[in-house]
Amino acid sequence: MAVTLCVVFILVASVHSSDGNLSFASYYGDHMVLQKSPERAVLWGYGPEGTQVTVHLSGPMNQESLVVNVTNGTWYATLHPVEAGGPYNVTASNENSTATLTDVLFGDVWLCGGQSNMCFETYKIFNASEELALAAKYPHVRPFMVAEEMSKTELSDLIKVELPWSVPTAANVGRFSAVCWLFGRYMNEHLKYPIGLVQSCWGGTPIEDWSSSRALQKCGLQQNGPQASSGLWNSMIHPLLNMTIKGAIWYQGESNTNYNQDKYSCSFPAMIDDWRMAFHEGSGGQTADDFPFGFVQLSTYIKGSTLDGMPNIRWHQTADFGFVPNLRMQKTFMAVALDLPDEYSPYHPIHPRDKQDVASRLTLGAKAVAYNETNVPFQGPFPNKITSTSMYLNITYDQTVSVTPSAWHL
Ligand SMILES: *[C@@H]1O[C@H](CO)[C@@H](O)[C@H](O)[C@H]1NC(C)=O
Ligand SMILES: *[C@@H]1O[C@H](CO)[C@@H](O)[C@H](O)[C@H]1NC(C)=O
Ligand SMILES: *[C@@H]1O[C@H](CO)[C@@H](O)[C@H](O)[C@H]1NC(C)=O
Ligand SMILES: *[C@@H]1O[C@H](CO)[C@@H](O)[C@H](O)[C@H]1NC(C)=O
Ligand SMILES: *[C@@H]1O[C@H](CO)[C@@H](O)[C@H](O)[C@H]1NC(C)=O
Ligand SMILES: *[C@@H]1O[C@H](CO)[C@@H](O)[C@H](O)[C@H]1NC(C)=O
Ligand SMILES: *[C@@H]1O[C@H](CO)[C@@H](O)[C@H](O)[C@H]1NC(C)=O
Ligand SMILES: *[C@@H]1O[C@H](CO)[C@@H](O)[C@H](O)[C@H]1NC(C)=O
Ligand SMILES: *[C@@H]1O[C@H](CO)[C@@H](O)[C@H](O)[C@H]1NC(C)=O
Repeated sequence: MAVTLCVVFILVASVHSSDGNLSFASYYGDHMVLQKSPERAVLWGYGPEGTQVTVHLSGPMNQESLVVNVTNGTWYATLHPVEAGGPYNVTASNENSTATLTDVLFGDVWLCGGQSNMCFETYKIFNASEELALAAKYPHVRPFMVAEEMSKTELSDLIKVELPWSVPTAANVGRFSAVCWLFGRYMNEHLKYPIGLVQSCWGGTPIEDWSSSRALQKCGLQQNGPQASSGLWNSMIHPLLNMTIKGAIWYQGESNTNYNQDKYSCSFPAMIDDWRMAFHEGSGGQTADDFPFGFVQLSTYIKGSTLDGMPNIRWHQTADFGFVPNLRMQKTFMAVALDLPDEYSPYHPIHPRDKQDVASRLTLGAKAVAYNETNVPFQGPFPNKITSTSMYLNITYDQTVSVTPSAWHL
């Protein structure tokens, strides 16, 4: 009981409070992308207790204003569905004050999570200068970065924003996640409508940090000791739950090669299930309860080694099926990366600089799994017959494989 009371107190006395004026929660800002129809975007913020807030949208399509109440210092509004496009202004107002978001676009919002390979900045990748020179040509792909902060309790808003919603420039994309940016850019080229990208990642973090206690308990993972389980779930994911999102992409697992490695085939799908349930609930049912979840297979980094834990994690990334989607991991997609090692990466071989191929493979998976496109080859070759003699191993794949010599130095 004492614990419950303590948590409630912290949620209410959150880092943000109303000074008498209306405001939006930390991750709503000018230049943002809100989730387009058929889903309905959720907006929330702070205001004086017991007052009413009128939420209004002005732009290419008009819709009637919404009136919501401020309860416990916060208000929460679910917009009517809005088609892709913009720009819109969104206002939240009462008789004394108005909070405004300008240049808001409607499109698909993707969350990008994980550890250092997801955080890996665009300025570090192969062909970085060419990629950065292109950034401003994609004004409808909008990046947002959650700051690296942790918390022992579940927070309702972010402690800090690292990069507010921005129109892309070489400078802000340069320090943004390359995988997230390129995925968004490629999706935007394909879909021809805005893409919002929410980067929430932290280098060197095991999956336990990003998992709620519910998810950890499903895998028998205890929450005691010095390891900060759920610490980033609490501060970098939980606050985002009310936002309507289309889906998530994820690049993580390296830190579980030496931490609860054998549990990863449970903890990874358990985290996905839990995020889906929590985003669905937080958005009042707007974010799908089976939203598409894409991830990057770990690449290789110690040449020829089977002792680094990477092969096991790779297997566990698929819940030990060897491919996705599968019965345990539905509506997921994987970018194969086994063939993209970067032995001479100046950022350590665990950080391959080819993020273009990774992102384009994620895009293929998204087309097939998130957007229901047919005839998109996204699963990579699957071995369906293996025969061996003492000297040779013959592997027959289910599709034609073009072999590049470097792939054989694994
Ligand atoms: C949004 O607000 C800005 C600044 O107040 C104004 O210049 C612009 O015309 C508005 N746009 C719309 C679509 O209302
Ligand atoms: C908002 O508050 C008013 C009274 O202040 C009440 O009549 C109304 O039912 C409330 N609306 C909701 C959705 O709770
Ligand atoms: C407001 O806070 C009280 C006490 O913490 C809680 O019981 C109630 O459910 C909250 N109301 C809403 C609408 O969140
Ligand atoms: C507006 O300000 C007046 C004067 O300070 C105050 O009495 C009133 O309650 C405020 N209304 C709202 C909705 O905050
Ligand atoms: C509240 O809003 C009013 C009117 O927009 C403004 O004059 C005042 O400075 C604001 N107060 C704070 C604390 O931001
Ligand atoms: C908003 O998200 C919080 C988690 O941060 C959740 O507890 C709350 O129920 C959500 N609000 C609504 C109305 O669903
Ligand atoms: C870098 O650019 C060169 C020349 O356009 C191209 O051949 C190569 O594939 C690019 N590398 C990556 C990782 O995209
Ligand atoms: C894809 O198909 C599923 C199942 O039929 C459906 O629920 C979903 O809305 C479709 N998504 C899109 C983007 O068409
Ligand atoms: C492997 O394939 C080669 C060439 O098709 C064939 O000669 C050989 O017998 C096969 N070996 C096994 C073990 O299947």
